[in-house]
Amino acid sequence: MKQTLVLKVNSLQPDIEKVRAAANIIKEGGLVAFPTETVYGLGADALNSKAVLALFEAKKRPRDNPPIVHVQKINDIYRIAEKVPPMADKLMKEFWPGPLTLVFKRLKSVPDVTVAGLDTIAVRMPKHAVALALIRESHCPIAAPSANLAGKPSPTSAQHVLDDLNGQIDAILDAGPTCIGVESTVLDLSVDPGLVLRPGGTPLEALRRVLGDVKLHPFVVAEKDLPIETTRSPGMKHKHYAPKAQVILVEGAVSAVMATIKSLIRTYWLQDKQVGVLATGETAWAYEAEVVKSLGSRRNVDAMAANLFRLLREFDEENVDVIIAESVPTEGLGLAVMNRLRKASGYNIIKAE
Ligand code: TXA
Ligand code: MG
Repeated sequence: MKQTLVLKVNSLQPDIEKVRAAANIIKEGGLVAFPTETVYGLGADALNSKAVLALFEAKKRPRDNPPIVHVQKINDIYRIAEKVPPMADKLMKEFWPGPLTLVFKRLKSVPDVTVAGLDTIAVRMPKHAVALALIRESHCPIAAPSANLAGKPSPTSAQHVLDDLNGQIDAILDAGPTCIGVESTVLDLSVDPGLVLRPGGTPLEALRRVLGDVKLHPFVVAEKDLPIETTRSPGMKHKHYAPKAQVILVEGAVSAVMATIKSLIRTYWLQDKQVGVLATGETAWAYEAEVVKSLGSRRNVDAMAANLFRLLREFDEENVDVIIAESVPTEGLGLAVMNRLRKASGYNIIKAE
């Protein structure tokens, strides 16, 4: 156990002294959690294999699942990426800084642990003053997976990070809650058309406006566990975003979903189970269960994304046995919300008719 240093900073104009203190820890091979616009990341010097190994250990992350490497300016990618297709230039201009991760062929000089032995590397430039200042002051690309214990929902506040990793990491830059709330979109450009490996903060619709054609990896919209051979992004095959309670996702038209959830509540109630319902602003009133939480209005997928991981963590604190979740519209960030809910449920999906 070590003492985790908590450095509170302003999210728009962070105190440079505190950022430098955090950067010094990174330079010395330590681990610093920091906010991005999506979720908090756990950072280490991407070019220091010992530091990256420590990062995997702190998170208890499987070694075959590489982190995303964060840069502060476009030119920094040439320190780690070998081939940058022309399409990527267009995307970086349009979406960086922002929640879009691009997968490139990597340079041999990047340590194997950082890329889990792959010949590619996932890179993004975050849109957050604290993250950008930390990378700039550290003078290195920063490897940063989400700052949660492996298998837990990603952290959208400093408290979430401390709940999982207090005493395991050197410091955290606390700039309050993150604004997008789901992780970045991961796009593979080594194939044509580009392939979304993980839906996230950059909507598919926005990518299609710039690229024309973009495909979704089958895993992104999967309704069951796909065989590992079809996975392209190592993270796909690992259990993810799982709260302690069993999650059941009910999909379909709103009225059918509501009827199915009401009947499930009755069934679990008869089994003496504590039931939580993850509902929406329009429907939460209708359920009589131990805990009912609203993701937000069905008309505001951005707000639902921002609330998702916090609510999953809150359910755990209330010790419910099951969480029954409503499906949400899949446009915009809704696609990422549904992808996370499907994974959190372990593909325990009920079709309401
Ligand atoms: O918003 C985000 O992306 C956050 C913040 C901290 O930036 N980071 C994040 O990192 O979510 P992480 O490590 O939790 O997720 C990284 C994802 C995993 O699904 C991983 O498998 C995939 O990116 N990935 C990493 N390197 C890859 C590669 N070379 N090819 C394909 N997928 C890769
Ligand atoms: Mg993660």
